[in-house]
Amino acid sequence: MNTEALTARDVDRAAAILRAGGLVGIPTETVYGLGANGLDPDAVAHIFQAKGRPQDNPLILHIPSADYLERYCEKIPDRAYALAEAYWPGPLTMILRRKPIVPDVVTAGLDTVGMRCPFHPVCRAILEAADVPVAAPSGNTSGRPSPTTAAHMWEDMDGKIDAIVDGGPCSVGVESTIVDLTETPPRLLRPGGVTLEQLEKVLGEVAVDPAVTRLMGAGERPRAPGMKYRHYAPRAPVTVVAGDPQKSAAYIAAHAGREDGVICFDEFAFLFTGQEVEKLGPAADKREQARHIFDALRAFDHTQVKAIWAQCPAPSGLGLAITNRLNKAAGFHVIQV
Ligand code: TXA
Ligand code: MG
Repeated sequence: MNTEALTARDVDRAAAILRAGGLVGIPTETVYGLGANGLDPDAVAHIFQAKGRPQDNPLILHIPSADYLERYCEKIPDRAYALAEAYWPGPLTMILRRKPIVPDVVTAGLDTVGMRCPFHPVCRAILEAADVPVAAPSGNTSGRPSPTTAAHMWEDMDGKIDAIVDGGPCSVGVESTIVDLTETPPRLLRPGGVTLEQLEKVLGEVAVDPAVTRLMGAGERPRAPGMKYRHYAPRAPVTVVAGDPQKSAAYIAAHAGREDGVICFDEFAFLFTGQEVEKLGPAADKREQARHIFDALRAFDHTQVKAIWAQCPAPSGLGLAITNRLNKAAGFHVIQV
């Protein structure tokens, strides 16, 4: 298949491909998505093929505003509208009871569906022009780090999908926060661009799913099926070194071999001259770190490094999402200093 290169000027073309049952790589503020008409089971099935995604891992639906929730969801609690008022459009996905109109292939047979209203202007324009709910997982090949630039999309999907829309680098850089509103208290299934603290401001108590902070055991079933898979992993094994940045940098400098790659805060890059280094951003700037995390993990696949060592921010605010992605990339191989 010849994959078409589209830009922000080609919104109508992207929408037409989606309506005709095709697959389009679309920019969002979190990560690039691999979109298809969410009401067309054949189109949705192609998403799983292109990504090599396990069939039991459900997709989320993207809509232009909270007004569309009632088309696809039932028994919508008031707190869903309160969250939408506070954080939509934006990097937040809500798990709600689905209506029968949502195909089984989207929800992997669950009676719930993930709903997201993105902020990215090109994405919003495509959603409005397509006039269908767009099912879109992150646009990476299953298991690889999520794409945060159009170039990442081309790396994984060239020849496999109909088109890729270049909407620039993603401004958030980690996937949306997922909160399950079908439970009381609501449960955080994946930390992301909207922080736990922000959710608590609107919802009060929020439970944090164990899959966010530790490896799931063989017999355990996380509530977000996708959280059980090896994820975000570069080819070389990753070790996360958590704790005070001065100490973690010193630990890595003492333990990393010359052949190893390093992900570090900008201030400490000087310790690793001569090695493959990816700078995450300043130690105090979590927004910048979130924007760089997936690109940093991907970059090592173009090198010969044998192992990767990574510094990691404190798990508060946006730091919870960054820590979660790094820990997952490391298979939760974490050293606390
Ligand atoms: O930021 C994002 O959310 C991006 C952009 C493209 O919107 N999308 C994204 O989709 O990250 P994906 O499929 O890569 O991750 C969605 C996660 C998966 O772990 C999946 O298992 C979980 O959401 N999920 C989807 N539907 C669910 C449901 N009904 N109940 C529980 N978890 C669900
Ligand atoms: Mg994904």
